[in-house]
Amino acid sequence: MQFLENRLRLLDQRLLPAEEVWLNCDSGEQVARAIEDMVVRGAPAIGCAAAFGLAIETERAAQSDFRGKTWQDFRPTYESVVARLARTRPTAVNLFYALNKMQELELAPTATMQQVTKVAKDTARALYDDDLRTCQAIGDHGATVAPNKGKLRILTHCNAGALATAGYGTALGVIRSLWKQGRVECVYADETRPYLQGSRLTAYELAAEGIPHVVIADSSAAYLMQLGKIDMAVVGADRIAANGDTANKIGTYSVAVNCHAHGIPFFVAAPWSTIDPATKTGKEIPVEERCATEISRFGERRLTPEKSPVFNPSFDVTPSRLISKIVTERAAYCGPYSF
Ligand code: MRU
Repeated sequence: MQFLENRLRLLDQRLLPAEEVWLNCDSGEQVARAIEDMVVRGAPAIGCAAAFGLAIETERAAQSDFRGKTWQDFRPTYESVVARLARTRPTAVNLFYALNKMQELELAPTATMQQVTKVAKDTARALYDDDLRTCQAIGDHGATVAPNKGKLRILTHCNAGALATAGYGTALGVIRSLWKQGRVECVYADETRPYLQGSRLTAYELAAEGIPHVVIADSSAAYLMQLGKIDMAVVGADRIAANGDTANKIGTYSVAVNCHAHGIPFFVAAPWSTIDPATKTGKEIPVEERCATEISRFGERRLTPEKSPVFNPSFDVTPSRLISKIVTERAAYCGPYSF
């Protein structure tokens, strides 16, 4: 994503890898729709986009309805934009982390709209810069805990890469750091049904960097493990409960169960801000359900009978006992987890 002075530019992830189209967002509402429609997706990226959305909306207000007004005049409108952005996607706690930071702006009630705009932009930029640094540290920590046995064959699910963050990625950050150290033989990218973040986006990033990879159907992962072709799995996270239970893209739980059955280390890589101590266990994590057409249609083409109901949870929760390590920018943690 690119933040210009009063515009957020988003690489439209719905069209990748076939087309690289940048979408301009000039208001908080446009950013909210871009998050809902998954133009931008991935837990840290939606947090950054939401923060920029608020900064854009503040600039817009300063130049129109709230010209000459103060922070206390604008605050109720600002809070309504926060509320709109908070309604976009419920699972990734990074969205709420970023919105909370944007609500804690250090401003006097009498601050001018120019001052409000500057502080909102600086705060949003700081969140973005911080995420980039964080991902690099996660990658480096992950490389230190990866199995020490020559070149690795690594399974990943969904896209927890540069596209899903400010850059570098979390799970893909670990893979990037291992690649730099010459420790990657092959990355197996689960295609990640139904939205195909793995085959479209992870493969796009790996191909761009020349990292050897193979795209597999999600259902092939267990077979590859049985054949002894996977040394470790690493995935991202949308919310980690206090006990380590982790919500991530639907299908992650199945990867964890299969890793456990085959004695393969299963790592979760995420920024500290993905840990939500207020959520005690995975049972409390709200799981987003997305529209049926993500499953029942492929573009214009219907894939299921007209009358067949569809269930489309976007995330699942992996119990912490199946997670070998949770890798953050601070350290890599082993269970039993207590955050
Ligand atoms: O529905 P998505 O594509 O936003 O889901 C993304 C994931 O599940 C990622 O693995 C997670 O957000 C971590 S991204 C660093």
